[in-house]
Amino acid sequence: MRDKLLLLSFILTLTTIVKASIDSSSAASYYTAAVVDYAPSEFHIPPLNATKELADEYMLSNVKNYAKYIEQASKSHVDIIVFPEYGIIGGQGFQTRDQIYPYLEEIPNVIDQIIPCKNKSYNDYPITQSLSCLAKQYNMVVVAVMGDVVYCTNSSSSSDCPEDGRFQYNTQVAFSNQGMVIGKYHKSHLYGNEGQVFNEPSVPDIVVFDTHFNVTFGMMICFDILFEQPQLELLQVMGVKNIVYSTEWINANYAYARQVQQYLSYFGGANILASNVGTYSITSGSGIFSSGTPLVTDFNPNLSPASTIAITKVPIIDSSTNKDRSPRIIKDSVEIQSLAAKYKMSPGRYTTNMQGVPPNSFNSTFEIFKPESNQQEIIYSTNNGFQCKFSYETLTIPGDQYFALISFNNNFNTFWDAQICTMAACLDNTTAGCSALVFDSQTIFTNLVFSGDFDETLYHVNAMVYTTNDKSDYYSQYDQTTSTFDITGMNEPVMSISLFAPQWYQVNESN
Ligand SMILES: *[C@@H]1O[C@H](CO)[C@@H](O)[C@H](O)[C@H]1NC(C)=O
Ligand SMILES: *[C@@H]1O[C@H](CO)[C@@H](O)[C@H](O)[C@H]1NC(C)=O
Ligand SMILES: *[C@@H]1O[C@H](CO)[C@@H](O)[C@H](O)[C@H]1NC(C)=O
Ligand SMILES: *[C@@H]1O[C@H](CO)[C@@H](O)[C@H](O)[C@H]1NC(C)=O
Ligand SMILES: *[C@@H]1O[C@H](CO)[C@@H](O)[C@H](O)[C@H]1NC(C)=O
Ligand SMILES: *[C@@H]1O[C@H](CO)[C@@H](O)[C@H](O)[C@H]1NC(C)=O
Repeated sequence: MRDKLLLLSFILTLTTIVKASIDSSSAASYYTAAVVDYAPSEFHIPPLNATKELADEYMLSNVKNYAKYIEQASKSHVDIIVFPEYGIIGGQGFQTRDQIYPYLEEIPNVIDQIIPCKNKSYNDYPITQSLSCLAKQYNMVVVAVMGDVVYCTNSSSSSDCPEDGRFQYNTQVAFSNQGMVIGKYHKSHLYGNEGQVFNEPSVPDIVVFDTHFNVTFGMMICFDILFEQPQLELLQVMGVKNIVYSTEWINANYAYARQVQQYLSYFGGANILASNVGTYSITSGSGIFSSGTPLVTDFNPNLSPASTIAITKVPIIDSSTNKDRSPRIIKDSVEIQSLAAKYKMSPGRYTTNMQGVPPNSFNSTFEIFKPESNQQEIIYSTNNGFQCKFSYETLTIPGDQYFALISFNNNFNTFWDAQICTMAACLDNTTAGCSALVFDSQTIFTNLVFSGDFDETLYHVNAMVYTTNDKSDYYSQYDQTTSTFDITGMNEPVMSISLFAPQWYQVNESN
């Protein structure tokens, strides 16, 4: 999912920065977690049409790097570590199922309680085996993303076995501190070209695992975060308070990686352990969030690869507390399953620009403005009858920085209908400049109100504020019932404020 030519031109510099924020209140009940913003090894082998031997050699180079982070984490008594999507396989842009096949392993099913480490049956599956051994050796839950192959045949009861006789899944795997496969989650919403090489499970996969430190985790990968399942089943029906989230997220100025992760944590009232690839700023952004508050985050602002590990103590959230913050309650999992079936999309349906989806690539409306000192303004932006509103007050504004209020109300890139309001810092006063990724700002909006005409009965509004302070949390000044930020006394420069709402629900769906 990454531009191969750019990737090949990078020189891999594996830098390690440990950010450890230690909770001083010893009475608190917590576990210790690590997430790695990891840049996969550069390819030194032909990535496409590789033999299994070459594919193993490449993938083991990444697992070797993982081992260093696991060892480092163990010195901080980490209980669970999470690695990103495509961290082991790399993102070489496979076009066919056969090309990715040498990179896949038959990952044991959870029900079989297999410890692949030192089990000869897994000698041909060195990734599964190595990760199992690392988890066991360092007494830590290890969560990583691999490719799973499940061989199949058609039968009288099912005829969904692919022509090549195998299901291929983009898979998040959890190994217990004993090295046992305790969680195996098949990515339920493939993105871009993934549909050409992987299968989606027939309904969204719902997977949780329990740990030796008595905390239960739900599992999710990348694009899944923008769909109602599996997250509603995990957060709302099962009351899961901890999620491991592995991703290769392509940043957009209306949905930066860390802010999307932070929103899930707020929405679910949950801890989110999120690991992204650190290859460059376009995809980077990892963190650990608790009920919407960033505990620690990592980001690679450069165009050269860097890997970092973030470690923190995570408070254990009582699962009997507020289930989540959704205004809409889905009552039982039977309904969820039928919704899931209804919303299932067919593989290969998605076509998109792998460089991401900037707002000038679809028909957004841009209202570009330049805030001045000591100003009170109201800006409107309207797209297909949907209006966004941004009112602000400033004190002193240094420099010349343009912003845009961007609105959108239409089908979003064939995925779903979406309503979007984004107020984003621009590189210049053009729509292209206001579609760019911006990672710094000087402009402080001292008081602001940000809202849109969302239909909250149909749309799930992801609410995000991205400032120069990577610990900022404005959810106490967010009203979820009206999808409005009303922020006073803000003293941090802003890169982006966004209300990004895919349509999840249907008219007359509740009966
Ligand atoms: C991989 O194999 C396909 C056909 O099997 C061929 O068209 C393609 O050129 C090959 N790619 C490389 C990089 O060898
Ligand atoms: C090793 O793996 C095989 C295949 O999954 C399984 O049948 C066997 O029970 C395992 N052996 C041990 C000692 O766990
Ligand atoms: C299974 O059946 C489907 C539908 O008829 C067909 O497309 C597919 O090729 C079959 N798979 C195998 C392995 O024969
Ligand atoms: C594990 O968690 C359950 C429910 O949250 C609790 O009842 C139990 O006492 C905990 N066990 C330990 C060993 O902490
Ligand atoms: C933008 O709108 C025009 C005119 O309605 C339409 O032809 C075009 O396909 C739209 N582009 C996108 C990316 O939706
Ligand atoms: C945009 O900026 C250029 C200079 O960078 C200026 O010449 C032009 O007038 C500006 N356009 C608007 C609409 O502000």
